[in-house]
Amino acid sequence: MLRRFTQLALGAAALSIVAFAGDPDWIARSKTGMLAADSPEASRIGADVLTAGGNAFDAAVATSLALAVARPQSTGLGGGGFMVAYVAKDKRFVALDFREVAPAAATAERYAELLKRQGDGPSPTIYGGSAIAVPGQVAGLAEIHKRFGTRPWKDLVAPAIKLAQTGFVADEHHVNACNAALKDMEKWPPLKERHARLYATLLGNGVPPNVGDKVMRPDLALALQLIADRGPDAFYQGPIADAVVKAAQAAGGVLTKDDLATYKVREREPLRAKYHDYEIVAMPPPSSGGVCIIEVLNALDALRDAHRELLPKQDFDWKTDAGFPLMLVYCLQHAFADRARWLGDPDFARVPVAYLTSSGYAKLLAARGFSWPGAAARPEEYGTNTLPEDRGTSHFCVADRDGNIVALTETINGTFGSFVVAEPYGIILNNQMDDFAAEPGQPNLYGLIQGQANAIAPGKHPLSSMAPTIVLKAGRPVLVLGASGGPRIITSVLQVMLNVIEFDVPLEQAMTAVRLHHQWLPDEVAFDREPPAELAKVLKDAGYKLTDERKSGKVQAIQFLPGGTMVGASDPQKGGRPAGVTGKP
Ligand code: DON
Repeated sequence: MLRRFTQLALGAAALSIVAFAGDPDWIARSKTGMLAADSPEASRIGADVLTAGGNAFDAAVATSLALAVARPQSTGLGGGGFMVAYVAKDKRFVALDFREVAPAAATAERYAELLKRQGDGPSPTIYGGSAIAVPGQVAGLAEIHKRFGTRPWKDLVAPAIKLAQTGFVADEHHVNACNAALKDMEKWPPLKERHARLYATLLGNGVPPNVGDKVMRPDLALALQLIADRGPDAFYQGPIADAVVKAAQAAGGVLTKDDLATYKVREREPLRAKYHDYEIVAMPPPSSGGVCIIEVLNALDALRDAHRELLPKQDFDWKTDAGFPLMLVYCLQHAFADRARWLGDPDFARVPVAYLTSSGYAKLLAARGFSWPGAAARPEEYGTNTLPEDRGTSHFCVADRDGNIVALTETINGTFGSFVVAEPYGIILNNQMDDFAAEPGQPNLYGLIQGQANAIAPGKHPLSSMAPTIVLKAGRPVLVLGASGGPRIITSVLQVMLNVIEFDVPLEQAMTAVRLHHQWLPDEVAFDREPPAELAKVLKDAGYKLTDERKSGKVQAIQFLPGGTMVGASDPQKGGRPAGVTGKP
């Protein structure tokens, strides 16, 4: 039955693909190197670095800096991120954590007080100085370059400077983001005044660019030039540090020069898990991405085993049974419930990663769930009914001819982050403080209700959903991917991955198949588009509430085909284009 569902789900995508002669423009192929980012300019700049002989890490640095220019609503120097990578020369995987941390003066009490005083006004963890955590992006890129890069730093910053001076082309995602920010300013008029710099520059004094217009960022070019000349110190100790602290404090924040000067990139041990013939290499806490993905995969497996034992005569086929989406939703409920209860910065809270990702725990979940359909017990509390569109995150993947692979997700969190701009450099500062459980039991920007393990504390990383991931089979890479979209990162990465490794569909179809989402609370199933009627019925019959919201994460991926072809894909829902390297393998 699921075969029918799968075909149904894929049908629409398959039809639209027939209309193209060959690949759609959000797919590219190459045997010598691939870059899949969510901005065409950024993919091109990274692929040019590969063509000129740079490795995947050089390309990742250049791409990220280009994204800082061309995706100001999603990422930039004022944010942070995670990288999961394979380093060919060392034959090992690394995970780098350059996520923001809470400033030293950002105590839970301070935020409890701010939230108490919020009233009907804009949230202090979303807009303004108190929303800002210490940016890690520039330190992260410098660390990637220092440890794994081969090209001069300046050469990697240069294309972004040029892009900032000559302008990137505004696409629909950018224009929509500008309109969303203007709408916020209409709703809370003081925001316009408080964030006059953002309003006057990127938001065009209330008249955002049209699709196709060039957007120049001469202020950001100045910052990039300083970073090109003086390295990360320009950001963490030099003139940019002064500007960042001044902007954050003028907007009511507590960020200090000391917070910037003491920021440190962390190397983390990547999570590794087996799934059938595959191995998953994923981001550990302070991201929840890897833990949730592995918990779901294990639980799916355990459920299948439970069914085999209990229903031997019914010839149960896990892959083709209509129960698959039910099982997936059931596993997501468990994984997101555990995210809420247990996950946070491992330097501050005891995070039971080994237990949550163990097959023993998965067996317990499967056994508990066998009342299915009927699924998990209904939680008593209901969260918000609204989840935002893709906002302040960007993911890209790189693969080079030497076998290096980079999966890098970076974020300023909300659209245009905190709205605070460090002048005169045009750096948009993040609002990552909202990823903490600032008010236990209350939903954050992404509707996530979270626990004590993710409470605010000075120097602590807010829990993330970002999930840069590499999938191997027999030790060889088959897929690298990641996404933007808050908690929908986890469900989007999981489903694209399952479509490729479980259902064997080509990447372009895996990317366009319908995606569902359940994050424990609110207790409902959401889709990225109208779900096939059969699927909706299966879920409704099992007692699930379906919401009418139509939102999804935005995935960027590279698939490695037998024979050496790399297929790059930039999610058509965000408007990026991958760029392949041309030339001989
Ligand atoms: O780290 C996180 O989980 C969030 N800051 C991610 C936000 C996000 O993906 C915004 N969407 N595009």
